[in-house]
Parts: sequence; structure tokens; C-alpha cells
Amino acid sequence: MDGMKICQELDRMEENGADFRQLQIRAVELLHEAHQQFDWTGIYELFPDNALRLGPFLGAPTDHVFITVGNGVCGSAVAEKRNKNIPDVTKEPNYLACSSATKSELVVLIRDGDRIFAQIDIDSHQFDAFDAEAVALVETVAGWLARAYIHSERGQKVG
Ligand code: SME
Repeated sequence: MDGMKICQELDRMEENGADFRQLQIRAVELLHEAHQQFDWTGIYELFPDNALRLGPFLGAPTDHVFITVGNGVCGSAVAEKRNKNIPDVTKEPNYLACSSATKSELVVLIRDGDRIFAQIDIDSHQFDAFDAEAVALVETVAGWLARAYIHSERGQKVG
């Protein structure tokens, strides 16, 4: 499924009354199914104490349910306010290993300008798994979720 179709399904769920958590869970499921090389797919949410906490995810359980800003690929994406596409995690000095099977990792921030709400984190068992198409797919869904965060604050619908 491409990014636009995923967003359309999320729109439909939202129109049918799904709550914010259900939308996050479904976004993770749809992304995880969208690409063969996505072996672990999850959302980390940023809390006011400058810590990321693990939300919905699919894949092997991880010890990293709590990551402080600046730590690992996930925490450094927040500290530097930019997405991270790591083609070979064995060469990344600031990397927190979830599984020895992981070879590459993508982090896409869920943000409104400088304001960061959360991030989508994806691990792959293949090196260099995240080509431009895969990144665009994840960015599209991150954009949808960013609008959901903004609207949930205002108690409005996304669409
Ligand atoms: N590898 C991440 C930690 C999260 S796990 O991949 C699920 C990092 O370096 O921050």
C-alpha cells in the first residue's frame, strides 16, 4: 500500500470515530505491512521531560522503551531536529541496539515545524533498506500523524 492509500484508510477510520491511539496503532500496522524490508516498526512519543517513550510497535520486543533526547539514533534525531536514515547501524557510533538482526534504521520525525510530537522508527534486517520511495512513504504517514497530533490538541477531526 502506498502512502496516500494509508492516509485514506486512516481518514476513513477517523471519520468512523476511531480515537487517537487506534489511529496510531493502525498507522504502525499499515506501515509495517507496506514494505517487506520493514522488520520493526514503531512510534516513540516525545514527553515534556525530554524523553521518548515507546508507543505502538510491531516486531520483536525491545529494551528501549524509554530513550532520552540525544541518545541513540532516535534521541539524536530529536536533538538535531532531523530525520535519520542509517544504512549500516554497525558504523553508527550513537546507536542503541534493539536486535542483533538489525542492519539499517530510519527515523522520521512527527512534527509541526520546530515542534516535535513523536517519531516513526523503523528497523530492517537488510543493509541500506530505506530508498527514496520507502522514505517518502514513511514521511507521508508522519505528516498525517502530525496533523492528527495538532488536531487532537484542539479536539478537532483530522480531515
Ligand atoms: N536503535 C534505536 C533504538 C530503538 S530500537 O531500534 C527499536 C536507537 O539507536 O535509538
